[in-house]
Amino acid sequence: MTVAPQRPAAPGVVGTAHTRVEGRDKVTGAARYGGDIPFAGLVHGTFVLSTVARGRIRSLDTAPVLAMPGVLAVLHHGNAPRLAGDYVGMLGVRPDPTALVFQHDRVPHAGWPVALVVAETPEQARAAADALAVSYEEEPHDVALSADRPDAYPAEGHMPGVTEKGDLEAELAASAHVVDAEYTTPEEHHAMMEPHVATAWWDGGRLDLVDSDQGITWVADEFARMFSLDPSAVRVRSEHVGGGFGSKGVRAPQVAAAMAAAQLDRPVRVTLTRRQMFSVTGYRSPTVQRVRLGAGPDGRLRALEHVSLNQTSTVYEFVEPGAGVARTMYDATAHRTENRVVRLDVPSPTWVRAPGEAPGSFALECALDELAEKCGVDPIDLRLRNEPETGPVSGLPFASRNVAACFREGARRFGWDARDPRPGVRRDGRWLLGTGTAAASFPAGALPSTAAVTADADGTFTVRISASDIGTGARTALTLIAADALRVPAERVRVHLGDSDFGPSGIAAGSMGTRSWGWAVAAAAGELRERLVPGGELPPEGITVRSDTTQAIAALAAKERHTWGAQFAEVAVDVSTGEVRVRRMLGVFAAGRIVNPLTARNQLVGGMTWGISMALHEEAVRDAASGALYGADLAGYHVATHADVPADVEAVWVDDHDPDDPVGIKGIGEVGIVGAAAAVANAVWHATGVRHRALPIRPDRVL
Ligand code: MOS
Repeated sequence: MTVAPQRPAAPGVVGTAHTRVEGRDKVTGAARYGGDIPFAGLVHGTFVLSTVARGRIRSLDTAPVLAMPGVLAVLHHGNAPRLAGDYVGMLGVRPDPTALVFQHDRVPHAGWPVALVVAETPEQARAAADALAVSYEEEPHDVALSADRPDAYPAEGHMPGVTEKGDLEAELAASAHVVDAEYTTPEEHHAMMEPHVATAWWDGGRLDLVDSDQGITWVADEFARMFSLDPSAVRVRSEHVGGGFGSKGVRAPQVAAAMAAAQLDRPVRVTLTRRQMFSVTGYRSPTVQRVRLGAGPDGRLRALEHVSLNQTSTVYEFVEPGAGVARTMYDATAHRTENRVVRLDVPSPTWVRAPGEAPGSFALECALDELAEKCGVDPIDLRLRNEPETGPVSGLPFASRNVAACFREGARRFGWDARDPRPGVRRDGRWLLGTGTAAASFPAGALPSTAAVTADADGTFTVRISASDIGTGARTALTLIAADALRVPAERVRVHLGDSDFGPSGIAAGSMGTRSWGWAVAAAAGELRERLVPGGELPPEGITVRSDTTQAIAALAAKERHTWGAQFAEVAVDVSTGEVRVRRMLGVFAAGRIVNPLTARNQLVGGMTWGISMALHEEAVRDAASGALYGADLAGYHVATHADVPADVEAVWVDDHDPDDPVGIKGIGEVGIVGAAAAVANAVWHATGVRHRALPIRPDRVL
């Protein structure tokens, strides 16, 4: 699709469609990704990953490998520098020891990095890594997640594991209608296009790290702590990023590259293969969720319980907070949520697009659909009857809550009113047809950021911010925000990002990137505009204004702040093969002020597409015998392709400015996937009359 770049009149650039400012660079190959930046004397490292799932490294036979052509070093626990790992970083969490490679001889999971082979060329490094013989003292491992594990425990992390109010059992007993169901979601992987890559070089004692990350300041901050450096002695650059989805924080490649570069005093690049990504870069934990709902005859909730269990590694507690969505979406007289964890001999999971909300909304929104069926109430009506006045757990007022507006607009566009509520009654040849809906929500936060905006002597403007555009269109959005605040056309603004030397800023995650950075850019640009004298002369170096939003964003905490949405899906189910096809999908979102409708639609449709993939395709299967994944590549791990996704996937939005954000932004990175899988699953029920509570809804499960 091509859309002619608009020439928006200034002011009012925010909200107008604009093609990506780096689009030409990307399609012509001029855009440099992490693995493209040249370094003189560059050498290459390849990881050797453990073949056992638990145990100890007994020995590494490095001598034959060191004699191979071009091989310069083999880094492992016996010769690697020790890192500081006992700190709480800028995101308020401890580092995942999974990233701190070569610190001990323990192997906590299959595919754990046990060595890095460095050679003059990538091919030499790869050949030598393949040849490295490692022997292990193997121990029995356990990778089986199940609901009844006695060693599961309520999460202890920075977010409460349990919330509860009221007498749940009493309210359930007094309810006219009860749903009590278990839902499961499988292990899912980010599978972004660009694999993780990092190049490190110690430039006169200063670490110069070029990588592919979604948090420049975050990575720089962690490296300073890990390597016990002054923050000014670390520079991180990430110019273009081919997708992140939560996995591109501090990972083994950056750490190993920095270690090897120090040892060899040369720039070292570490690139992961697609297969290595499946054990080295995190993933979404499988979940086992139990939802209990109790309602009066009118469908109003008296009892709501959502318990979600996820796995984590033996070395780190990562919580996929599936039950968190119930803390926002629905209230009940008795309300209980619990996020539980069990430690297995598996890699640490991590954030994956809409962590918690994506799997949590599958369980909760399917359970709501089941309750609607039992009550004989329309699923949208049931949700509208259960709209809370304030945050069900926090008790705080909502900054805005436009769930009802999303459902009303969606019902109108989708043609919901003509729906026959009975399941299994619509047919198109061998296909059974059905429609389903689900609500969506995602927290709308912000992180402190700094930005600098310069009025250049030639009449243009330069924004400098250490943001990371992971493919979302952040560069373009920040261009529009700056132009709007400066009241100049977007063509007069250029945005430089992806460099920690531009000062601290928030991360491209948690749907907070553009929001956090946009705030800082708008603040600096707005102040700069006030300082400029119309027709006045500029000094040769221009005039620069810097901003810091640390104080300003603190005010956000006074209210519950979320994006909202309503997802709609129509499916066809082939009763002879069990195949499910999504025929059309609509998402209506209340997601703050939309800065660039073009890239916003991309983001939301992308999230919904991932929801289709989650509902029908994605599933990483762990082999109990080896503790590793079957088919850990894009042949074995099926991500929805064009053939799986209908042309008719549309995302629209209702007016929903955040009243406390200077631009009105909330953040759109993640809400698109939330509820999408539930809408598909609810449509499959409507088509067939059968509830599918385990994802993905594979043909063999449908039959
Ligand atoms: Mo997202 S999972 O916060 O990159």
